[in-house]
Amino acid sequence: MATKKSTPKSLAPKVARSLPALRKLADPYRAKRQTLALVPTMGALHAGHLALVKLAKRRADRVVVSIFVNPTQFGPAEDFGRYPRTWDADLKALAAERVDLVWAPTVDVMYPDGFATRLAPEGPALAGLEDKFRPHFFGGVATVVAKLFLQCRPDIAVFGQKDYQQLKVVTRLARDLDLPLKVIGAPTLREKDGLAMSSRNVYLSPAERAAAPVLHAALSACANEIRSGKFTEQALNAARDTIARAGFVIDYVEARHAETLAPIHQQKDGPIRLLVAAKIGTTRLIDNIPV
Ligand code: PAJ
Repeated sequence: MATKKSTPKSLAPKVARSLPALRKLADPYRAKRQTLALVPTMGALHAGHLALVKLAKRRADRVVVSIFVNPTQFGPAEDFGRYPRTWDADLKALAAERVDLVWAPTVDVMYPDGFATRLAPEGPALAGLEDKFRPHFFGGVATVVAKLFLQCRPDIAVFGQKDYQQLKVVTRLARDLDLPLKVIGAPTLREKDGLAMSSRNVYLSPAERAAAPVLHAALSACANEIRSGKFTEQALNAARDTIARAGFVIDYVEARHAETLAPIHQQKDGPIRLLVAAKIGTTRLIDNIPV
């Protein structure tokens, strides 16, 4: 079974699709007292995901990447069915990063017949941001992430700041459930024009793609205005105008406390995080930056 390290084939990560297979592949790491990092994803991997993998590699002996498009975090009218699935390219990218193991359970493995438990996160999960527009979302994320943590039992787990509220929710979850792991937040990787990399960017038409960098540009301008003393609401309104004029329908453009996600009005009450969610055509994009 074991192929020599020097052959190209050995660079391909091992793939587990069932819990017994996962245990068989991951248990030896623990037996050798190697540290394990988990990078949870829904696949359709891009350079942003791979930046998390690179960080994980620096911080642990072994890296597991999970690929699971989690049905319980999508609403009935959302894009679960058409979410991009690019397995071969994902595996190739993970091989190039020398990932040890890919955990790719089927829906039946993750949610077998009779599955009847769902976490109900509060605190940052009820901040009135994503939760307001996707009420099912954090219950689904918390449930699947808790399962991924218990299945893989990592020492560290890496999440992107791109999904800032999600990062706060899973950090809280690990602490509240006394899970013996450290959640690490990694910076957002962007295209050259500022657009945050996202698996959903492939949905954008050329015209929408051309308009999309406005999200980051407007947040950056807003951050500068707040830094130079403007009240947040005034600066936010300018950002809202710019984003709407570019053709987006806004869900929210908000200034929040970077740790608690509570609403915030002045820089001195910070640290501030600016967060946006907006739809262009049928595609909903989110982004955030620090002030
Ligand atoms: P997914 O959208 O595939 O994202 C997986 C991880 O990659 C998340 O932690 C996300 O914040 C991070 N990420 C996405 N775009 C990024 C970018 N441009 N720069 C840096 N990191 C980025 O988030 C999920 O999947 C799911 O909700 C999941 C946590 C896997 C639970 O199902």
